[in-house]
Amino acid sequence: MGLLTSLRKQRFNHYTPSSVQFAPAMPEQATPLRQVVPSPVQTDLEQTERNLSHKHSIGASLARAWLTRSIKPFEFTNEYDHALSYQGVRSLGLYVHIPFCRSICAFCPYCKHPYQSETAKQYVQQLLREIDLVCGDHTKSTLENHSLSKKQAATSLYFGGGSPALLVDEIGAIINKLQEYFDITDGIGVELHPDDVTVETFKKLKTAGVTRISIGVQSFDSATLSILGRNHFDYSQVFETIQAVPFDTVAMDFIFALEGQTFESIKADIDTAFASGANHIALYPFIDFAFSKSNVKKMDKQQKKSLLYKIANYCMEQGYVRDSIWTFGKPGVDKYSSMTRDNFLGFGCSATSLLANQFKVNTFSPEAYEARINSGELPTALTTRFTKRQRMIYWLFWRLYTTHLHEQDFKDFFGEELNKMYGLELWLGTAFGMLKKKDGIYSLTNKGVFYYHHFEGYYTYKYIDHMWNIMRNEPFPKEVSI
Ligand SMILES: C[S@@+](CC[C@H](N)C(=O)[O-])C[C@H]1O[C@@H](n2cnc3c(N)ncnc32)[C@H](O)[C@@H]1O
Ligand code: SF4
Repeated sequence: MGLLTSLRKQRFNHYTPSSVQFAPAMPEQATPLRQVVPSPVQTDLEQTERNLSHKHSIGASLARAWLTRSIKPFEFTNEYDHALSYQGVRSLGLYVHIPFCRSICAFCPYCKHPYQSETAKQYVQQLLREIDLVCGDHTKSTLENHSLSKKQAATSLYFGGGSPALLVDEIGAIINKLQEYFDITDGIGVELHPDDVTVETFKKLKTAGVTRISIGVQSFDSATLSILGRNHFDYSQVFETIQAVPFDTVAMDFIFALEGQTFESIKADIDTAFASGANHIALYPFIDFAFSKSNVKKMDKQQKKSLLYKIANYCMEQGYVRDSIWTFGKPGVDKYSSMTRDNFLGFGCSATSLLANQFKVNTFSPEAYEARINSGELPTALTTRFTKRQRMIYWLFWRLYTTHLHEQDFKDFFGEELNKMYGLELWLGTAFGMLKKKDGIYSLTNKGVFYYHHFEGYYTYKYIDHMWNIMRNEPFPKEVSI
């Protein structure tokens, strides 16, 4: 949804940089802005929140230092590789970011701008050029040098945003361009706003080769939608369309842990999703990004804990399989997830790439992106070079996100025994009831999932919020340390 979508959902992603205004500011008045004059009670609350956030920040730094066995933070700088070394890497995912939406939701942190058809069309041309810049000469010279005849395998291709279906007529051209360089083995996914769910759009997506879709429902409940600043939506067209044009994976996104939200309302969302033809759901805990202009409030920790347990138990009782921290699916369904690849290449504004020991982020500014591409340069804004332990922690974070950790996978990837590197942490996790081990596989328990959520919250507020806020204001920051 990147380092969290993408870093969460490899969706690292957004915005209207102050120095580079890409499009006229979008009215974000769907939800009212935060109250400007604080009451004394609010001031106390805000102070408590600041203290807590400071405590979280120290906790996150200590955890990072312990787990990476170093006080060295993750240092991102503006130096970058002009040729990305992805040939021959295992489990490579592809991601394309489309940063356009019809209207902007105040709660959403991702890289998105108001849709304008001309700008969007030009963006597609720039994307095609970026793909050639990353893969063209590099692939040609590698093939010549090593006499390789096969294309590089890529496990999957995901389109995220924004609202990628605004470019439904161009998605086929982007897929074809990527297929010049890659054999995509496990399917192609596109995320959709409910407004995009029409028979015509679905047919075009199918023709282009899309096999998985994810619809951003957020909630079927009008009151919850209204808290999020979305209008009441008539979902009957969505239900009819997913019956009329089937895809292998039909996923739906929901947001939970909003202040006042009840288990009954989430249970109703889950039931409606599966009854209407979805076979996979994602329940994202609401993240209140400091830079967002939303006044949506999150639920307190104890209520969220109890809600998480209830949701997990309910989904298991219904026979759904938890295939990641946030997702449940019908048995045998391929999950909709772009986040769990060992390596990935991302194209477009704000997209990220993860390779052997580097992680890079493209500029969030569409104008800066265009300028770089036009000058024949990659649009990389920041790169970090991982130490071995940093790479291990990144890898472990996303493996645990799937709720299962295979000792052998760690050994295959790093050439080291998992127990030798993180034996103490795994022992502690097992002793405190967060992990269970069977046949060389560690699995997160319900308690473990809760603490993962908690840790992920630290990580999001300390790292992602900070970094995205810088990236949305500066097209090419000199350095960022997190
Ligand atoms: C990039 S959004 C795009 C989906 C599509 N454009 C839409 O609006 O339906 C992907 C998902 O991220 C989730 N999301 C967005 N903002 C969030 C936030 N502040 N906290 C938690 N989840 C969020 C939503 O569930 C959303 O469907
Ligand atoms: S439509 Fe989707 S991507 Fe666009 S702002 Fe809203 S939640 Fe974010």
